Amino acid sequence: MKMEMLSRKISDIVKEDMRLSLFFSGERIDFCCNGFRQLDEVLEEKGEDKEQFSRRLSLFMADLDKKGDRETYFEDMDNVELINLIVNQHHKFTRDVLEELDTYVPMILRAHFDEDPELLLMINRLYGNLRTELLEHLIKEERILFPAMKSGDAEEAKNTIASTEDEHDAAGDILKELRSTTRDFLIPSWSCNTFAAAYHHLEALEQDLFRHIFLENSVLFPRFSQ
Ligand SMILES: [Fe+2]
Ligand SMILES: [Fe+2]
Repeated sequence: MKMEMLSRKISDIVKEDMRLSLFFSGERIDFCCNGFRQLDEVLEEKGEDKEQFSRRLSLFMADLDKKGDRETYFEDMDNVELINLIVNQHHKFTRDVLEELDTYVPMILRAHFDEDPELLLMINRLYGNLRTELLEHLIKEERILFPAMKSGDAEEAKNTIASTEDEHDAAGDILKELRSTTRDFLIPSWSCNTFAAAYHHLEALEQDLFRHIFLENSVLFPRFSQ
């Protein structure tokens, strides 16, 4: 990989091949809510060695090349196709996972409260907040923002984008808090299978939301905010 890649915006790098989102997730670099930032600045902030980082990225990309089939190139999709993909894949996935978590989170709260009350209360609170935010957010996009975009009402779309991005930031903040509270979803020694399932679903929700928010903030919305 060429070092000049480091001076690019993170979202521009991910836009070219969405599979790179996995790499950035693994490196704990926010490519969705903060995708507008320049990669080298973020690396400096994290105190990363740029040479070593470049090497890891090169290896990851070489591996992708070997696999060949790259994911859909989202810039080639028109607005309607992109919106349909967001709703049919990501909104559906979010609702499905929330439904699972609605069972698991109260279950682990009851079963494991005594082992670590602080942790269990925090998970319960963060999950509750995230769930409320997301369910309201999805319906607003589906009933207000996306119809405006599909019908070509650029003015209404533009007016709604700012508040939608604020909601993405709010969800992103909760996700970060969940990750630090759970110490990167590290399963405690005293836990059971249900606990592991809860963490697994929370992490799956996080990973899908990162890609979902990226598609909205960095691919779809810029088409309307110019
Ligand atoms: Fe969405
Ligand atoms: Fe969204």
